[in-house]
Amino acid sequence: MTESSTRGALRRIVVLIPTYNERENLPRIVSRVRAAVPAVDILVLDDNSPDGTGAVADDLAAADAAVHVLHRAGKQGLGAAYKAGFAWAIERGYDAAVEMDADGSHQPEQLPSLLRAAENADLVIGARWIKGGSVVNWPIHRKVLSVGANIYTKVMLGLPVNDATGGYRVYRTSALQTMDLGSVSSAGYGFQVDMTVALVRAGLVAVEVPIEFVEREIGESKMSGNIVSEAFVNVGKQGLAHRAGQLRGAAARLRSPREGRWHSA
Ligand code: GDD
Ligand code: MN
Repeated sequence: MTESSTRGALRRIVVLIPTYNERENLPRIVSRVRAAVPAVDILVLDDNSPDGTGAVADDLAAADAAVHVLHRAGKQGLGAAYKAGFAWAIERGYDAAVEMDADGSHQPEQLPSLLRAAENADLVIGARWIKGGSVVNWPIHRKVLSVGANIYTKVMLGLPVNDATGGYRVYRTSALQTMDLGSVSSAGYGFQVDMTVALVRAGLVAVEVPIEFVEREIGESKMSGNIVSEAFVNVGKQGLAHRAGQLRGAAARLRSPREGRWHSA
């Protein structure tokens, strides 16, 4: 897009919108995306929502050639839906795939700022917990959970990001093709952390830009205790492996200072 791009211009961009019971939210988010960034395409990833979101998506796609729908058999989690969306984007030659919630929490009006940052990064995370970022209308327990999850993740994994669980993201498809997506096992929100780990391990660059996250006004969050504990256990396992690797590296350096290497992740 600009001449300062170090990684090639992003010409073809698709916004992936996973949906599970978002009948009322979907038309609003689609029209906001189309108004804010008219050049991008949209792919709705619907898990056969009982409320008929899939049919709403079909109507939107019939009315606008930039809107596409992937109907999936049933509720298999956010991560599984996004993986299917990544494959769809790669097959069709898109340069970047954006992750965006259907409920308006990720404001399409802030997408240009994420896309600008993607000129010089493999992954851009719209971050709540950095200077300039914020959360609107979250109850205190969600804030505590999110800040706590990010501190836990940072301590366990030493990741160079402050909002590893954030779900408003831009991935270059070249990065998705380089990363080991097979190592990304979490089906729920831990998916965001797993993806960040896989990207950093592949030697790729993640940057964060501040966003204002606005809690949904319509419908319900699908966040559950199971999703939180899956993320907690998976980050814990990876964290222990990461710290064990660092200890082995330190021990090797003590034996032979020139051979030891910090374990990066
Ligand atoms: N296809 C599909 N399948 N979509 C799903 C599923 C699923 O199993 N579960 C959730 N979604 C969709 C929702 O319909 C919505 O569009 C989006 O994924 C986010 O779901 P929410 O239930 O609104 O998530 P949240 O607001 O609690 O969580 C947000 O914050 C988390 C971190 O704090 C999201 O942005 C997460 O990505 C983020 O990790
Ligand atoms: Mn939400």
